[in-house]
Parts: sequence; C-alpha cells; structure tokens
Amino acid sequence: MAALFTPFKLKDVTLRNRIAVPPMCQYSAEDGLTNDWHQVHYAGIARGGAGLVIVEATAVSPEGRISPACLGLWNDQQAEGLARIAARIKAAGAVPGIQIAHAGRKASANRPWEGDDHIAEGDARGWQPLAPSAIAFGENLPRVPTAMTLDDIARVQADFVAAARRARDAGFEWLELHFAHGYLAQTFFSAHANQRDDRYGGDVDGRSRFLLETLDAVRAVWPENLPLTARFGVIEYDGRDEETLNESIELTKSFRQHGLDLLNVSIGFSIPQTQIPWGPGFLAPIAQRVRREAGIPVASAWGIEAPQVAERVVADGQMDLVMIGRAHLANPHYPYLLAQALQVEHPSRVLPAPYAHWLERYRLQ
Ligand SMILES: Cc1cc2nc3c(=O)[nH]c(=O)nc-3n(C[C@H](O)[C@H](O)[C@H](O)COP(=O)(O)O)c2cc1C
Repeated sequence: MAALFTPFKLKDVTLRNRIAVPPMCQYSAEDGLTNDWHQVHYAGIARGGAGLVIVEATAVSPEGRISPACLGLWNDQQAEGLARIAARIKAAGAVPGIQIAHAGRKASANRPWEGDDHIAEGDARGWQPLAPSAIAFGENLPRVPTAMTLDDIARVQADFVAAARRARDAGFEWLELHFAHGYLAQTFFSAHANQRDDRYGGDVDGRSRFLLETLDAVRAVWPENLPLTARFGVIEYDGRDEETLNESIELTKSFRQHGLDLLNVSIGFSIPQTQIPWGPGFLAPIAQRVRREAGIPVASAWGIEAPQVAERVVADGQMDLVMIGRAHLANPHYPYLLAQALQVEHPSRVLPAPYAHWLERYRLQ
C-alpha cells in the first residue's frame, strides 16, 4: 500500500490521501472577487483526487494583495464566491482549504507574466505598501514601504481575524496563515526586513510577536475542531541558515503551544540574494527536522512531485502531507498519475466515477 494514498486525520478533518494542492495565485481576479476562472480551476483540480486543495493567497485587505488581480476576503461579496469554491472542492471529495495573506512590501506588483515588478509609483492601479520597516525588498520590487504604526499592526491583525471568520462561514475546513515568502508576517520575523526598535522588532521574541499575536487572534475565532495551519519560511538560504532554522524551530514550538495544528514548511524569500539548493525534495530534510524538533505535523512543497520522491518523504516520516503545485497546473488529474506509478490498486478510482469508469483498464503512456 502506498503511504501517499493513506488517509490523514487532523482534528475532525480526514484527508483521503497525503496529496495537497498548495496555494497558487491565479492573478485573475478583479476587486478581489472570484470569477469563472477560479470556479472552474479549483473544481477541476479537486476532481483530480488530492486530499486537500488550498485556495491561493487571499488578501485580508485591499493593500494586502500582491497584485490588483489577487483574490480578497475583506467583504461579503468576496466570501460568497469563495463559498461556492469551497462547496465545489468538497463535492469533489477534497477538503477545502484557504490561505489568508497580507503581501506587505511585496504588494502592489504587476502580474508575473506582465513584469512581476512593482507597479510604478503614481500609476493609479498601485498603492503604497506597508511593512515592519521602511526597507525595500530590492531588485524587481524596489518600492520603499511605509513602516507600520502600532495602529496599522492592530488593524491588519483585525483584518486577519475578519478574514478567518469569513473563511469559516464560507465553509472552508482548513485555514493556512501566510507567514512565508517575504510577505508581511515573514518580514516581521526576518532581521533583514524588520529593524523596528519597539516590541515588534529587535530580538527574536520581538520579531516573532506579530506572528504569534496574529495566530492567537485567529485561533480565537477559528473552530477548535478544524485545522489551523501556517506556511512559514523556516530558512532563507542566506548564509545564516543554522541560526535562522534554530530560531524558526523555537517559534514553531510556540506556534504549537498557541494552537497551531500543522506547519507548511517553506522558504523565507525575504531577500533577493539567496543560494537555494533547488532539486527534487531538497526541503524534505528541513521539514523532517521541524517535525521532529518542534513536535508538530508538517507539510512541504518544492519539487516533490516525482512519484518515488512523494512516496518516500511520506513513508520515511519526513512529512505528513506533500504539497504538489505546478504538476497540478500541468495536469489537474496528477494524483491519478501518481496512483498509476505507485501501483495503487484501481488507480482510476482516485478520480470521480464519470471518469474512473472509463479509465479502469486504460493506462496513460
Ligand atoms: C502560479 C503559482 C502561484 C503561487 N502562489 C502561491 C500562493 O498564493 N501562496 C503560497 O504560499 N505559495 C504560492 N506559490 C508556491 C507554491 O505553493 C509551491 O510552493 C511551489 O509551486 C513549489 O511547489 P511545486 O514544486 O510542487 O510547484 C505559487 C506557485 C506558483 C507556481
């Protein structure tokens, strides 16, 4: 029996297998609203057989969007469209998840295929980004953000809470806080980006405060019986990896004590100059270390889609779930290919009956 195709239970939620679709921005919204693209995209991917489908980074406020084309969850109209997506994911047999996010100093950018850079200052499509300190990311994102006041911090945390409530009411059963990838929360944690001299900066406790407070505030409104998770960049690949990893693992222990149910282990992306050792499953040993040392279930992504790699990282206990992103864009039925490659009995049954019936004896080449 392939470990990848065993169920996974977390709180009152059971995933049909260990395959998760990580959040992937579609940069296809207007005013933060879903449209046919999102409705079809998420329904199609959920029918492909993954146990969990996490809707893309969905901004908690207009200025928290990466681009003007990102989804939002700061009003009820946005929540209505997302509720339909949650229902479609669930009807396809997957657990509906959503990532709520604030892009911080990486906000106000053009779509990746339209430059992937900051919208020019003065262009009416853009806005002034917020961050812990007035320090730009650099390279393609040179805009200097406004350093947040204590009021700004409290407002953004309240925005996270309001978005979590709306996600809950929209029928999502798995919430992921976006604490990774150089967006707002990650920049509070990163000494590269956070040079505040108040209680939200300085030592690791100060740099952790925004994340822990946000988690606490969301935990208070997110149902106890449903998984509350976060995606967090535990390493930057900036030459100080051991130190960052130790700080990250300590913070993850605190996350667990504050009610986090699973960590989606990722990369910090807080500075442009990094040396990331890309390769199949390169982050798996780091995920395993977080899992062991922080004592929390973990998921991770980044190049683990090859059948033997995905199977191994689960079978060896390196992670509880594998996040498979781009392979699902290439083929929304990717779990079917995994089931075939891992010689799961009746691989077609990963798919819904209207497809499975005809594929029972058919083998994709
Ligand atoms: C089109 C696209 C959009 C993405 N958007 C997000 C996002 O909204 N939130 C996030 O945490 N990661 C995002 N990512 C990163 C993915 O979740 C994932 O970590 C990455 O694709 C690596 O996994 P893979 O090698 O299986 O594709 C995105 C990646 C892609 C390709």
